[in-house]
Amino acid sequence: MKIFKSARSRLTFLYVAVLALILAILGVLAYVIFTSSIYDQTDRALSEVGTSFETTARRHFEDVQEQKNVSEALSHTAEDVSFKNYKVFVFSQTRKFLWQTRTLEAEPNISTDTAQRWLNEFTSSEEANLDGFSNDRELFRVHYHPFKMGGSSFYLIVIHPLDEQKAYLRQIRNAMLLIVPVALLLTSFGGYFLAQKSFAPIAEMSEKAAHIHSTNLYERLPIENEEDELGRLAKTFNDLLARLNRSFEQQKRFMADASHELRTPVSIVRGEAEVSLTKQDRDVSEYQETIAIMQKESERMSRIIEDLFTLARADSGAFVPALSSIFVDDILADTVRAFRTLGKKHDVSISYSQNGDMPLEADEFLLRRLFTNLIDNSLKHARSKIEIESSMKDGQYEIRISDDGPGIPLDKQDHIFERFYRVDKSRSSNSKSLVGSGAGLGLSISKWIAELHNGRLKLSKSDSNGTVFKVVLPLNQATRTI
Ligand SMILES: Nc1ncnc2c1ncn2[C@@H]1O[C@H](COP(=O)(O)OP(=O)(O)O)[C@@H](O)[C@H]1O
Ligand SMILES: [Mg+2]
Repeated sequence: MKIFKSARSRLTFLYVAVLALILAILGVLAYVIFTSSIYDQTDRALSEVGTSFETTARRHFEDVQEQKNVSEALSHTAEDVSFKNYKVFVFSQTRKFLWQTRTLEAEPNISTDTAQRWLNEFTSSEEANLDGFSNDRELFRVHYHPFKMGGSSFYLIVIHPLDEQKAYLRQIRNAMLLIVPVALLLTSFGGYFLAQKSFAPIAEMSEKAAHIHSTNLYERLPIENEEDELGRLAKTFNDLLARLNRSFEQQKRFMADASHELRTPVSIVRGEAEVSLTKQDRDVSEYQETIAIMQKESERMSRIIEDLFTLARADSGAFVPALSSIFVDDILADTVRAFRTLGKKHDVSISYSQNGDMPLEADEFLLRRLFTNLIDNSLKHARSKIEIESSMKDGQYEIRISDDGPGIPLDKQDHIFERFYRVDKSRSSNSKSLVGSGAGLGLSISKWIAELHNGRLKLSKSDSNGTVFKVVLPLNQATRTI
């Protein structure tokens, strides 16, 4: 149904339907209760009239005791008493009509035949009541009152017209039939208005959200009240936008930095090629020099591309490490060995105090890369020595790599794990490196490797006496993909 497409109409419809049901139940209930209480009242009055007739007759009977004439007592009573709107018929033991009380003016006239017909409907010897119609279809409440006097049985039929009660009930019914639809109509308008008012901020929010694109991710939805549901929804949405914006900015910066880093080696290679092609008469050593430069720059490019590829895979969240049972101490010893010659060349001693077996389920290739990156960084900055220590603490391996270099300036320390971040931006080709002069991706990759193994990589300390990096790898812990 088209009109129920909007939540507003649906809500109003539900609201009105529930109210209609409640009103209907209440109405029927009230009507039933009214009716039964009116009947109770009427029946009580009828019974009183019967009793009062009987009492009066007995009094007459006692008055005329000498004659002990029951008929006289009853006929006197029927002549004497009259009850407004109540009429009494007296029948004999054989259920024959004897007397009736007077019919007052403006009271409906009931024939004795009708009274006889009603009497025949009662058979027991107890008081009882029924609804009865007169010959002209008028409704009466009929009361049956048997009693004994002077040794014989008599029956009273007391009647009361129900037109007043019927009119009263009709009025109640009419009032309900008027009030219920009016109440429903008012509540539908009220409900629709309220729903419209409550949904207005949502409509506004959805309109605003529809205008947010990648170019204006900094825009936010308005929050009227942070405490209510809508405010919280807007806040959640705004938080989502903030996260999206942040990762969008990161992505943009990453692209810009990556292309910037790649542009330099490409232009060097191109420049070298152009120069050597334009210059005539070059000797072999000159060509060799050019080709050496080109080789070094292409290596650098491959390295950057390799790093970018690693980070892209890390970002995709679908990286599955190639786990195997390895010994961390062996990998560390291997890596240190690989650096030793270079260290010696630059008068930097590299010491590794092996501290027992360190078995672990890990990705060997990635762990090698992690330690290589860290030792390589240390070697680039160390003055005379690098120390590597490992220990086991609280179910995790701790590997500390310290150097006696000049340290990282305090204000730069927070940034070193960021992608493409280098403290010294000059792209000096560093001969003190196994990996080669980097693009500032080493530490971010290393951190990712540590976290992929559920561990951590932290800068423990860095001042003018040197720098210490700490790698923490938890033992026996399933690795996760991040
Ligand atoms: N042991 C260290 N001593 C001093 N500076 C360091 C050390 N390790 C890292 N750094 C600084 O952190 C920066 C980021 O390191 P990294 O991500 O490995 O990039 P890269 O090695 O390519 O420069 C480096 O440029 C360097 O300035
Ligand atoms: Mg590095």
